Formats: sequence, structure tokens, C-alpha cells
Amino acid sequence: MATFKEYGTFLGDYLKPHKKKALSLGGLMLAGTALSLVNPQILKNFIDKAQDGSDINLLLWLGIAFVVIAICGQGLSLLQVYLGQMIGWSTTNDLRKDLLNHSLHLDMSFHTKRTSGEMIERIDGDCRNLFSFFSGVIFQMINSLLLLLGIILVLFFEDWKLGVVLSIFSLCTVLALMRVHGIAVPSAKKALEANTDLMGFLEERFSGLRDITKNGGSSYFLKRFFQFQYALFRASQRAWVISRLSTWSVTIILFAIANVVILSLSVSFYSAGSITIGTIYLVVFYTNMLVEPLQNIANNLQEFQNFNASIQRINELKRTQNAITDMGNQYLTSGPKEVTFNHVSFSYGQGKIVLNDINFKLGKGITLGVLGRTGSGKSTLIRLLSRIYDPSTGTIAVDGVNLRDIPLAHLTEKIGVVTQETYLYQGNIRDNLTFFNSSITDEDIFTAIRSLGIEDWFNRFPKGLDTLIQSGGGGMSSGEAQLIALIRLFLKKPDIIILDEYSSKLDVITESWLQQAVINLMTNRTGIIIAHRLSTVNWVNEIMILENGSIVEHEKREDLESRLDSRYMELLKTGLEVQPN
Ligand SMILES: Nc1ncnc2c1ncn2[C@@H]1O[C@H](COP(=O)(O)OP(=O)(O)O)[C@@H](O)[C@H]1O
Ligand SMILES: [Mg+2]
Repeated sequence: MATFKEYGTFLGDYLKPHKKKALSLGGLMLAGTALSLVNPQILKNFIDKAQDGSDINLLLWLGIAFVVIAICGQGLSLLQVYLGQMIGWSTTNDLRKDLLNHSLHLDMSFHTKRTSGEMIERIDGDCRNLFSFFSGVIFQMINSLLLLLGIILVLFFEDWKLGVVLSIFSLCTVLALMRVHGIAVPSAKKALEANTDLMGFLEERFSGLRDITKNGGSSYFLKRFFQFQYALFRASQRAWVISRLSTWSVTIILFAIANVVILSLSVSFYSAGSITIGTIYLVVFYTNMLVEPLQNIANNLQEFQNFNASIQRINELKRTQNAITDMGNQYLTSGPKEVTFNHVSFSYGQGKIVLNDINFKLGKGITLGVLGRTGSGKSTLIRLLSRIYDPSTGTIAVDGVNLRDIPLAHLTEKIGVVTQETYLYQGNIRDNLTFFNSSITDEDIFTAIRSLGIEDWFNRFPKGLDTLIQSGGGGMSSGEAQLIALIRLFLKKPDIIILDEYSSKLDVITESWLQQAVINLMTNRTGIIIAHRLSTVNWVNEIMILENGSIVEHEKREDLESRLDSRYMELLKTGLEVQPN
């Protein structure tokens, strides 16, 4: 259970910036409560005065006052809704922003363990859950309690016995309503589960959409979809009926009893001459006015359980620390870099050792080609160098500076990576290249395209840089996405360049066009090229061959070529391509 302190911290953190609005909302609710207590009094007077045969003008004024107050009450509740929505949206949007920002800065070991669905649920679902918490449940709770107290006090004032009866009745109703809510919980849970099932089904199927449609699975897909939909419909319907029926029946039964008791009491008081007809009206009216605050209190007490679950999950996410610390303060000079791996070993989580005691030094301006079978640890090696993960043991240094001592943002600037998976987002080609960095001009981009020698490819887009790319890179082949990634690299001008099977989705001819461009790109830079074709690296300075997470060969390319028994020459002789990953 979230403690009072946790609730308090949450309210403090997110409600404080909207303090004025929140206080106005509280004020409006109080005013509304006062008005709703006043109006029955006017009616009571109206009835009594009418019975006494008072002046018609007085009655008229009472009538006008009643109408004006009723209209003001409606106006107030409209304002309350408006303010509540404003506060709810502003606070939950702040919360969403904080959570997203926090998650974006968490390392890959956090993200690989979680599906996108789970993250959406954390960042959006829980915030949506907390909407009513911020949009006024707290005030509503206070307000309902005040209204309840007000009504009971007024009735005590009329006659203490009426006050006692209604106090006992109120307590019983809240307890009964909460109990009844408990009955509805399992069915509400089932409805939520049916919803999660439907979403899970859709997410899974849409990710495999191409395979489903191509293999004629559409009708099966639709049939399953209807089954999930139907299950959701039935579960929601059941939950709704159970919840409404139970609340409704409790309210009806208890209020029927209360009305009978109150009416009988009132009638006997009236016969004894201690109260007027107007008072009877007032008492009955107030009794029935209790429905709303009582239901609100019971509902809100239940809702706090929902908030509780969301607050716990949100706090847990906020407490999650980045496994990659960013405490460094050493900056690198510009120019080609020296890279050193010193007894580096690594495993993902508690899994098997993926890299085992890796030692090597890459001199300034050297281009290294890395070869090895799928799963030999090539990509892991460069993930460590770009600090997506930290080594389990050993150290990695650039120009003699431990990676951990370099600020992450600075390291990201210095290292440029192109992998097999380039993500293109919805927007035009320009934005996909510059990431909205307005200091990069179109002319810079054209220079990069010319340097890469891919003008012919680029000229095929009639709208040039304004060509729109659909989300997830729709409209571009994966090979074209790799070209975009290479242009990004040209624009970024990092000192260390890493290409992880950058050409795996390009055909041999395009790759050979690009080779000269890549050679140009590597001049005056330190580079690591992971290749799945030997031809990709037949020009580099050094070759490293990885096997099961260990270096089995690392020498100058010419040296390896001159040694007929080298692994590299074996690969060249057999002409076998290293299996692409
Ligand atoms: N995120 C990950 N979590 C757990 N194991 C992983 C992860 N990524 C890769 N591995 C494992 O690490 C090993 C090396 O993978 P990787 O470095 O991608 O190899 P390569 O790039 O040479 O094909 C493989 O056995 C792979 O299954
Ligand atoms: Mg790989």
C-alpha cells in the first residue's frame, strides 16, 4: 500500500506547479456544496409560507432565488469540470514526460528486458489511471465528506434523533457499497485481462503482418480477432452489469429503508406539532441528497486501490537506476583515436560469457576489419566500445582515457555507428538525416551524398530532401535505410567510425560503389568494420577474427595475406563468405 508520504510526495511534486488552479477547484467545490445545502432551505420556506398564505410577492422572490441559485450551482459544476480536466491533463502529462525522459536514459539492459507494450503501459497506462487522482478525486473526497457532514449537521439542528438515524445510515451505506464493490472486482479484473489479451494478439499479429497476409492467413486472423473482441465484450458487459446492479440494488434498498424510517419519524413529529410540512420536505430531500456523496466516498475509497498499484509501479520505474553511469569529466581532443581493450570479458546478465579476455590495441587512424561467425561476439564488442553496455571485467580506453571517465554525450559525439538495423522515423529525408539539427544545411547534405557517390540513387526521389518517409522506414528498402545511415555518419564527422555489417542489405554492386566512399570516410579516422563478406574488408589495415568470444587472429592484413596458413587466407581460399548475422 502506498503510504501517505508517497501520496503526499506525488501530489506535492505534480500539483504544486498548478497550485492556483488546484486551490480554485477546491474553492469552487466548497461553494457548490454550500449552494446545494441552501436551496432545499428556500424550498422549505416556500412550502411553509405558502401554507401560511403569505404574500404572493414573497413567494415569487423565493422562487426566483431558488432558480438563480440552481443556475449558479450548474455554472459552478461546469467550471469544476473544466478546471479538473485542466489539472488532470497538465499533471499527468508532466508525469508522462518525466517517465519517458527517465526511460530514455536507461541503458539497453533495461530495455531489452521489456516489450514496447509494457513500456507504453508504464508511461501511458499508469498515468491515465492517475488522471482522476489529479483531476480532483482528493477534492471530491473532501467535498463529499463536507457535504455529508453538512447534511447531517443540518438534520441534527432540525431534530437530534433524525441526525442520529442518518449518521448510522450513512456509515452503513458506505460500508455496504464498499463491500459490494468487492463483489464486482473479479469481473472487472477479467474484463481488464480480456483487454490485455486483445492488445497482445493485435501487437503480435501486426508485427508479423506481412507473413500473415502473404500466406493467406488473413481470414484466420480476422476470425481470431472476432473471438478476442467477443470475449472482451462479454467480460466488459458482465463487469458493468455486476457493478451497476450491485451498487444500484444496495442504494435502492438502503435508501428505501431510510426513507421509510425518516418519513415515519417526521410524520410522528408533525402530529406532535414539533415540525412543519416544510421541514418534512427538507428532511426527505436531504436524506436523498446523501446518495451522491455516499456513492462518491465509496467509489473513491475503491479508486485509491487503483492509484496505489499505479503509484507503486511508477515509483519503481523512477527508482530504476541506469546501469551505465555518466560521471566522467574527461574530454577527448579531436583527430583519429587510439582504442585499447584491456582484459575485457562480458556476459549479458547472468548468461554465458560472450567475450572472453579480449586484449588488443588499435592505433590512431587504423581501420580494422572484424570477421567471425554469427554469435561470435562481434556486435557485442562494438556495443562495449560505444558504451551501450559496460564490460563485466577489464577496461576499454580511447586515447588512454577509460570510457567510464568520458561524459556519455561526448563519447556519443566522438563515435559514429552504422548497424544492420537503421531506424527511420516518420518525416522527410532531411529530418531523418539531420535529426532536426538546423545547423546542418542542405548543401552539407548534398556534399555528403556526392562524397558517397550515391547521387544517382538520391536523384530518383522527385521531391529530394522533402521526400516523406513513413514511420518505421516505410517506402524505403532496408538497403536504402543503410545508405541514409551512411549519410548521417558523413554529416556527424565522428573520430571513430564503426560499421556493423553496414552493407549486409546492399547488393554487391552497390556495395562496391560505396567502397571508395567508405575508404574516404575512414581517412584520418579510426575505424572498425564488421563484415559478412570478405570483399568488404579487402582494403583495411588490420584483420581480427573472433571465435566464440575470443580473438583467434589479429594482424596486419598484408601479413595475414603473406602467411598461407593464416585463418584469413583459409577463408579467402575456400571463398566462403562468413555467415551473415
Ligand atoms: N541482448 C542480448 N541478451 C542476451 N544475449 C545476447 C544479446 N545480444 C547478443 N547475445 C548473445 O551474445 C552472443 C554474441 O552475440 P553478437 O555479439 O550479436 O554476435 P555477432 O555479432 O558476432 O553475431 C550470442 O550468443 C547472442 O545470442
Ligand atoms: Mg552482429
